[in-house]
Amino acid sequence: MAYPYQITSYEAYTEAYKKSIENPEAFWSDVAENFTWKKKWDSVLDWNFTEPNVKWFSGAQLNITENCLDRHAKEMGSTPALIWEPNDPSEKNRLLTYSKLLERVCQFGQVLKNNGVKKGDRVCIYMGMIPELAVVTLACARIGAIHSVIFGGFSAQSIADRLYDAQAEFIVTCDGAFRGAKDIPLKSVIDDSLIGNRSIKKVIVVTRTRTPISMLKGRDVWYEDEMKHVEEQGIHFIEAEPMDAEDPLFILYTSGSTGKPKGVVHACGGYMVYTDYSFVNVFQYKKSQIHFCTADIGWITGHSYILYGPLSAGATTVIFEGVPTYPDAGRFWDIVAKYKVNILYTAPTAIRSLMGFGLGPLQDKDLSSLKVLGTVGEPINEEAWHWYDEHVGKKQCPIVDTWWQTETGGILISNLAGITPSKPSWATLPLPGVQMLLVDEKGEEVLDDGNETVSGNLCIKGPWPSVLRTTYGDHERCRTNYFATYPNLYFTGDGALRNKEGYYRITGRVDDVLNVSGHRIGTAEVENAINMHAGVIESAVVGYPHDVKGQGIYAYVIFGHIHGDETLTRKDLLQTVTRIIGSIAKPDKIQFVTGLPKTRSGKIMRRILRKIAEGETDNLGDTSTLLDPGVVDEIKRGKL
Ligand code: WT7
Repeated sequence: MAYPYQITSYEAYTEAYKKSIENPEAFWSDVAENFTWKKKWDSVLDWNFTEPNVKWFSGAQLNITENCLDRHAKEMGSTPALIWEPNDPSEKNRLLTYSKLLERVCQFGQVLKNNGVKKGDRVCIYMGMIPELAVVTLACARIGAIHSVIFGGFSAQSIADRLYDAQAEFIVTCDGAFRGAKDIPLKSVIDDSLIGNRSIKKVIVVTRTRTPISMLKGRDVWYEDEMKHVEEQGIHFIEAEPMDAEDPLFILYTSGSTGKPKGVVHACGGYMVYTDYSFVNVFQYKKSQIHFCTADIGWITGHSYILYGPLSAGATTVIFEGVPTYPDAGRFWDIVAKYKVNILYTAPTAIRSLMGFGLGPLQDKDLSSLKVLGTVGEPINEEAWHWYDEHVGKKQCPIVDTWWQTETGGILISNLAGITPSKPSWATLPLPGVQMLLVDEKGEEVLDDGNETVSGNLCIKGPWPSVLRTTYGDHERCRTNYFATYPNLYFTGDGALRNKEGYYRITGRVDDVLNVSGHRIGTAEVENAINMHAGVIESAVVGYPHDVKGQGIYAYVIFGHIHGDETLTRKDLLQTVTRIIGSIAKPDKIQFVTGLPKTRSGKIMRRILRKIAEGETDNLGDTSTLLDPGVVDEIKRGKL
């Protein structure tokens, strides 16, 4: 059965798009009518991009968990909301129905309250992919606390920075997490992040790996004890906190071109409407289908398309604790067969890595339940697209190539599965309500010129419901980052092509942000981390094409005095980056150099470094403005 706001034909897409642009207020209020509100809005949209100040559904009150849980618990309480697949396939899986999930969310909401968490407080969540992660996140939303989920691959230092930035007072974590063959000591990382910290009041610890951990009196409590206490009190339900549509729902940190990650803030009302709308339309979700998004809840993809979007639509969503290659490279296909997954949403990196194992792991796997495939996070190359199409979808499943960002909250450019055409490596058309455009360096709009494909910087005119509202604690940063490059436009930081059909193809970041395995990392962040090493004088980090990761990290480092040998020193540097940011930011290549190409004003010419890292040594462009053109030859000779 289709949802009232589901687009079911190409003509309906064109019509919806047209209406959404001509009259966004009428369009989005019609969509929003299908959701649970405690109080309806006074006005649909007020906005300007100069401050920026965007308000959707002003005056409305809601709680996203009532929409994601209560209404479904009432109508279809025994339907599975979550299916959890453990890291180790021989461990028992778990299933939580909508009724059960609602109950657990309410109980943990009460635990949060018992521990002093109030509406508006920031709660940091640092957990593995277990059902409790969903429970904890939704429980924050239930009581109006602002969650800030931090991916398990970030270091203690990164956590400390984020705790400080968000002025968080509460943490929920696990003793440890299982990921493939590894045990990750989450609580111990949290303990390191809290050395010297005076603002954290409570750390709630979920048992998962039962690795020995320290539990500090007065600060650390066990999840299970707290939940038991609430059960003994006989609490199975708590009222959802009424939230203004514009109240913040969560903070999610992401990298930019400066050294400091920023806390992207999403608002309750618009985010609720847009994640559900985009989920239902892009994946063409049909009631009672099984949806499997392989992302981690620590990233925006997990927030929007494991939790909020699917649950709002009443879907059954799969949470997978492990990795695609454990215990072997057939794991995704086993999960698809085991739960008869209908929608599989993953990253090009995962596809490319699985391609490397050949077709063996796919043999005898029953993938006949699949209806729709999706990709996200980075451009997908045609080879990977065709492999996905032929060997996973058996040429029977539309592939949606979904372009969006942490800041956009939901998918903005994508074909709609089976409804609008797909084109390998093209994200294709914007969703209703989304006005994309390309601009040139001067900020002039790039218009179509007859038949040719045009290119430019990807911008957006006007707000969609799940646009970021601010960067936490620093609104000016939000303005300068996204709304100041081109007046009255949101600038994505991506470059793109547009063909004569109006399809968009994302070519990659045009700023100093890398996309490594679909993870966003700022070159400045990696440089800062490398520069923390006692022996480093200066460094410059650029990206280069990587067969599996999409982009690899290439670091040029001026080192004072090498202790031992270069190999050892490289390892020291990797340790430093792992400590400062986390293992996800480790450079793939480190080249020691005696100088960096700089202009006379002292600016590093990254263009040259990028070209050398890409293997392009002849066509380096104009090097005449360099302070010391000689360093370029030295760098070329030493290329890794
Ligand atoms: C950046 C956003 C959105 C969830 C995951 C990443 C790149 C994202 C695509 C795509 C080409 C893509 C862009 C974007 N990106 N999706 N389908 N095709 N590039 O979220 O960490 O905020 O990164 O990922 O460069 O700006 P994120």
